[in-house]
Amino acid sequence: MRVSIVGSGYVGTTIAACFADLGHEVVNIDIDESIVEQLNAGTPPIHEPGLADLVSTHAGDRLTASTDYEDLLDTEVTFLALPTPSNEDGSNDTSIIEAAAETLGATLAATSDRHLVVVKSTVVPGTTETVVAPAVEAGGDLTRGEDFEVAMNPEFLREGTAVEDFRHPDKIVFGTDTAFAGDRLNAVFDPLVDASNADTAVVETGIREAEMIKYANNAFLASKVSLINELGNICKAYDVDSYEVADAIGLDDRIGARFLRSGLGWGGSCFLKDVSAIAAAGRAKGYDPVMLDAAVTVNDRQPVQLLSLMDRHVDVAGERVAVLGLSFKPGTDDIRNARSIPVIEGLLERDATVVAYDPVASDRMREQFPDIEYADSPEAAVDGAAAALVVTEWDEIAALDDAFDTMATPVVVDGRRAIDRRDGIIYEGLTW
Ligand code: UGA
Repeated sequence: MRVSIVGSGYVGTTIAACFADLGHEVVNIDIDESIVEQLNAGTPPIHEPGLADLVSTHAGDRLTASTDYEDLLDTEVTFLALPTPSNEDGSNDTSIIEAAAETLGATLAATSDRHLVVVKSTVVPGTTETVVAPAVEAGGDLTRGEDFEVAMNPEFLREGTAVEDFRHPDKIVFGTDTAFAGDRLNAVFDPLVDASNADTAVVETGIREAEMIKYANNAFLASKVSLINELGNICKAYDVDSYEVADAIGLDDRIGARFLRSGLGWGGSCFLKDVSAIAAAGRAKGYDPVMLDAAVTVNDRQPVQLLSLMDRHVDVAGERVAVLGLSFKPGTDDIRNARSIPVIEGLLERDATVVAYDPVASDRMREQFPDIEYADSPEAAVDGAAAALVVTEWDEIAALDDAFDTMATPVVVDGRRAIDRRDGIIYEGLTW
């Protein structure tokens, strides 16, 4: 099939390369000329394992990039994979996707072929029908149902495993309200479903349901981690090993074993944004989303709890403190909403000298905290420190052992259960 994708961010680029790999002819549209040039030269604008191979294999052949919407005129379906950032009250800002939908409409006015416009971005229920479709109509004086149809196809890729997640999804969700849209989406994904030997569940549902499924998925995962964190905090107070508790309850298949690692909590670009947006959407309709608000409150408290465990053992004013790990999870240099940020802020409030280490995220963090020290190795970060705080469970951080003997006071506060307790260090696990 001939498929176009508007947006060359983390989702857009990944699905463009993966669709090309499935055999489709793909055009990826982005307004950023340098990204387009990079893609056409065979290099992805983001780092994801496996993506560089796919882009270099298909660029210039089944995968082309362009800044010109007219290059999508030959395609049968367009996926909108654009950011939906947060407004101040947590609600979704749809202005970027709306503007793109209008330009798409203006472009589609030049063809009489009925087109399918698929929203990939995370949007609150109703947005595809009441914001995106009218913008396409307005852009080209078009009529939904005659000139084009809309559909919603949410994305569940994780950073760091996006290509693998694309190839082996738990589910693919098609939100449609016409046979035309359903048939076309099925045709795009058929090669993927065939390749998975039908292990992949295809959920065919309504457009609003598809929009909500994405929020429900992320809200559930974020709340699951916040709930195990709350239970973990109580475990800690009673000297109970929360990981043994989590392993046991995870055996109940109504609960499930994954996403039960308690500790510093969640970061990244999506959980906070999505939980806040769906909470704001509930509030806009007069509903008070107490559980969703609590998931955020518990998450905000975990870094505070980590710092207070450190305070029990050492006054860090004027002392070096190692922050081990800066990215929001191992395997990425993404620091958006990373738990390291409130940890560093708390240390600076205590007048500590912060020495941070991360294998890949230091450059990004330097933009936010230019005045703290950045060590070249985890060993160098802990050398002479009065406390070491484990924030991200990178392998080389989890492997630290003898290095703790070089600390001024060997206080290790572990936010990720990465380090083994042993004699000679004062070890505090956040929730165990
Ligand atoms: C998340 C979802 O898992 C994806 O399905 C979704 O597509 C994506 O958001 C999105 O909406 O774009 P991602 O943000 O890449 O993916 O990260 P995850 O691997 O889900 O981890 C999220 C956070 O939860 C990390 O900070 C991690 O450290 C934390 N976490 C995870 C825990 O604290 N404990 C756990 O047991 C699991």
